Amino acid sequence: MKPVVLSLGAFPPATVSTLAERFEDHHYTVYPLPDGTLSPDLKGRIRGIATEANRGATRALIESLPGLEIISVFGVGVDAIDLAAARERNIPVTNTPGILADECADLAIGMMLASARQIVFAERFVRSGEWLKGPLPLGRSVGLKTLGIVGLGGIGRAIADRARAFRMNVIWHGPRRKPDVPYEYVADVVELARRSDFLMVACKGGAATRGLISAAVIDALGPEGTLINIARGSVVDEPAMIERLRDGRLGFAALDVYENSPRIAPEFLTLPNVLLQPHQGSATVETRTAIGQLMIDNLTAHFAGRPLLTPVT
Ligand code: 8YV
Repeated sequence: MKPVVLSLGAFPPATVSTLAERFEDHHYTVYPLPDGTLSPDLKGRIRGIATEANRGATRALIESLPGLEIISVFGVGVDAIDLAAARERNIPVTNTPGILADECADLAIGMMLASARQIVFAERFVRSGEWLKGPLPLGRSVGLKTLGIVGLGGIGRAIADRARAFRMNVIWHGPRRKPDVPYEYVADVVELARRSDFLMVACKGGAATRGLISAAVIDALGPEGTLINIARGSVVDEPAMIERLRDGRLGFAALDVYENSPRIAPEFLTLPNVLLQPHQGSATVETRTAIGQLMIDNLTAHFAGRPLLTPVT
């Protein structure tokens, strides 16, 4: 008998078909799962959860599944998984490190360039016929500017390496110095923002970083600064950012993540000085398929009694 798995997410076709081949897969893309979707019988039979990183697994879901043995995350962030609830029942959690850093870094750099060189605005400028009335207002260069990176994990490092190729000065902040990093470490995040032209948020989400990019940090970045967030919406004080974008105390924001996705704060839709992306850092066929395969390989290893490939420690 195939192990029963609850899978939650908009997975690529290869992931959906492999899940269906290897498991009795109950797959839902609707989010959040409406109450009563899972029958009591099914709840009793589910042994594994496969879930998107941003969808996670709540304590209520974990506690409603008495036979749950493993949670395998589609993605690297585990901030939306109730790790304490899993730990209480010795339920291992796996994620997919080492796969998506380059993809996220490509988008991060793309968002930075699109902000400085007004790529999205310029496209609308051509389509709307504005170009016929006069030239595009000048953009800003990224070369020789300072990029401050908050969080130098796999994604942050991949961003830093790319930024060097654009001849940027890279400085960074994180909870602690790292010995093997060629970029200058700045212990105070306000100081990092003060020295940055572009502030790139690439750290983990969760309680430890909630509100790290505070009003004070945004003020230090200032009217000439650009804030880019490809991490989690929770890391930035969103109301403070919106207020400062509106009155010009922050120059520009390029955002892939929000406090509430996909129902983002309506103010974002009216602000001219924001670039909005739909949480798509890892969203390519190649990378999402690789993420799905590792998520499935972790489930398969568990049900075969083999060591997990990438457990969250
Ligand atoms: C996931 C993410 O792919 O890895 C993460 O932490 O946020 C994304 O890369 C996302 O869960 C897909 O929906």
